[in-house]
Amino acid sequence: MQTSELEQNKHGVLPEPTHDELARQQFVRSFKEHLVAQVHPGNRLAYEHRVKPDFVEEHNREPETRFEVRDVMTKDPHYRMFSSLLRTSQEMMWSASQKPVQRELDKLIEKTKGTGGAGGTLRLDPDLEIPRYHQAVDIHCQPGGYHTEITEDDVAPGAIYDRAVFIYAMGQMGPDNADMGSSAVAWIRENHPGLKPARILDMGCAVGHSTVPYAEAWPGAEVHGIDVAAPMLRYAHARAESLGATVHYSQQNAEKTNFEDASFDLIVSHILLHETSEKAIHNIIAECHRLLKPGGLMVHAETPPYKNLEPFDAFMLDWDTRNNNEPFWARSHEIDYVELSRKEGFDGDKVFEVMAPSAYQIAQARRSKVFQGGDFGGGGLWFLYGAEK
Ligand SMILES: C[S@@+](CC[C@H](N)C(=O)[O-])C[C@H]1O[C@@H](n2cnc3c(N)ncnc32)[C@H](O)[C@@H]1O
Repeated sequence: MQTSELEQNKHGVLPEPTHDELARQQFVRSFKEHLVAQVHPGNRLAYEHRVKPDFVEEHNREPETRFEVRDVMTKDPHYRMFSSLLRTSQEMMWSASQKPVQRELDKLIEKTKGTGGAGGTLRLDPDLEIPRYHQAVDIHCQPGGYHTEITEDDVAPGAIYDRAVFIYAMGQMGPDNADMGSSAVAWIRENHPGLKPARILDMGCAVGHSTVPYAEAWPGAEVHGIDVAAPMLRYAHARAESLGATVHYSQQNAEKTNFEDASFDLIVSHILLHETSEKAIHNIIAECHRLLKPGGLMVHAETPPYKNLEPFDAFMLDWDTRNNNEPFWARSHEIDYVELSRKEGFDGDKVFEVMAPSAYQIAQARRSKVFQGGDFGGGGLWFLYGAEK
């Protein structure tokens, strides 16, 4: 039984599942909800009542790091069951999202070519080298990753990703999977009310879930989205056009783009950094510094860093590193972003790290009248790291 009846909004290129395909996708979503709501809480119980007391008895102190928690929790039967089922749900999510795309790929490719009208553009670069950090591993278990093309004008990775994100988030990022972009937009508006961006760049835009909210928030702005993966961009372009959002997509590496110096007022990314190497993160921040106009703003949305978390919570958040093909996840959550930004040209005093509330969950709470000015009912928070130039 799903805890939320919310379904994904349709748009011009969202694959249409058959009855059975949809039932399978809904099962995976319910399975994930069950794991998160019913099985996951047992991990803390196992830790508090079984694993930690055993550790204290042996060491005369509590575990102090996520590594110490990991050593003991990974032997606990409840955690092992949870972890195994969560990994299984991830593999099921990809295969359930793939089925309708494989079945109607030719039609889908035709549809993506047919969309238009919003005035956005698409520029691909067949010679762009896909970074090794994406070629070497299928990030978060998506078969073939973001960039693999098996046919001409392929859009399959984009179409699969669009549906899989909705199932993965269990609808909690809203009907357009737009919550990261919407939440960052809301935070920027509240904290930088004077910013009226004429040019905006979204790095690692994937299918544009987070890019479109910027085009909607600042309709007069020229909005660009870049990504290394052509199939994501083809789909992103068709999706934005069908939604009436004007976005200019181009296939570029965020580490080194072909935009001019000081050409953007606002540069953003959403869950890009943790999927790249530490060296790449340095290059990306240096590139943001080069591309920002003086007084411009960069904002990168991620899940929370480990430094403020209890060892148990950091261990749980680190699950993806070892179990979900996210080899850079751990390091990206430990980097000192103030120091890194300084090294790449930013004034350390202008760097910020904040937790921003989920715009979608605030809106939901308001609709259900739970919102009471400040308390949005235990909803999610996004970690925003950034700087003014
Ligand atoms: C998790 S997805 C991003 C999701 C998207 N920003 C959103 O909010 O929906 C990561 C994306 O970053 C892209 N990517 C990874 N490294 C990149 C790089 N160096 N330059 C540009 N794009 C990159 C991947 O191809 C993938 O589409």
